[in-house]
Amino acid sequence: ISSILLVVLVGYFLGAISFAVIVARGQGVDIFKEGSGNPGATNVKRVLGAKWGNTVFALDALKGFIAAGWPLLVYGGDNRLAVIGLIAAILGHSFSVFLKFRGGKGVATTIGGLLALMWAVLLIGLVIWLIVFYSSKMVALASILFALSLPVSAYFIHGTQDPRFYLGLILAVLIVVRHRSNIARMFGGKENKF
Ligand code: G3P
Repeated sequence: ISSILLVVLVGYFLGAISFAVIVARGQGVDIFKEGSGNPGATNVKRVLGAKWGNTVFALDALKGFIAAGWPLLVYGGDNRLAVIGLIAAILGHSFSVFLKFRGGKGVATTIGGLLALMWAVLLIGLVIWLIVFYSSKMVALASILFALSLPVSAYFIHGTQDPRFYLGLILAVLIVVRHRSNIARMFGGKENKF
């Protein structure tokens, strides 16, 4: 089995484990039917409180960290495989084979993966996330601007010769597309506020 295929498979199946679904089910809740209906840390926090929301965030971030981190450890310095592993994990998380190809929006998993791959880009994104969240109270708006900052920061910090710039672009597109319903609610003035 080639290293690329292995990285894709491990990333996808790791990503496809939905901790939001598992944790909510443990509390007797179908997360697809409550709050925003999204199987992610934000919605678990909304429906079940901070303890379970933070648990889901940590576990979803961990799977991104592992999906991107293990190729770096095993195959050495080439971050191309780690980039592929993280993209596979986000796709697994968003289109899970265990959930009829439904899933979350990939923000927590992205944060974990970027911790392994480009912490400075992540740090700038998190500062933007915090500023937008505390001024708007909308997690989705903060997440969208976080996502859009990734290719911009990666461009300035790593440049276009680095696969991490393309990772930033792909993550921005994936995360924004996954927030379509939030964007529609924002324009209607109906987005949930915390
Ligand atoms: O990470 C997802 C967040 O940005 C939005 O979640 O449940 O408010 O749609 P939700």
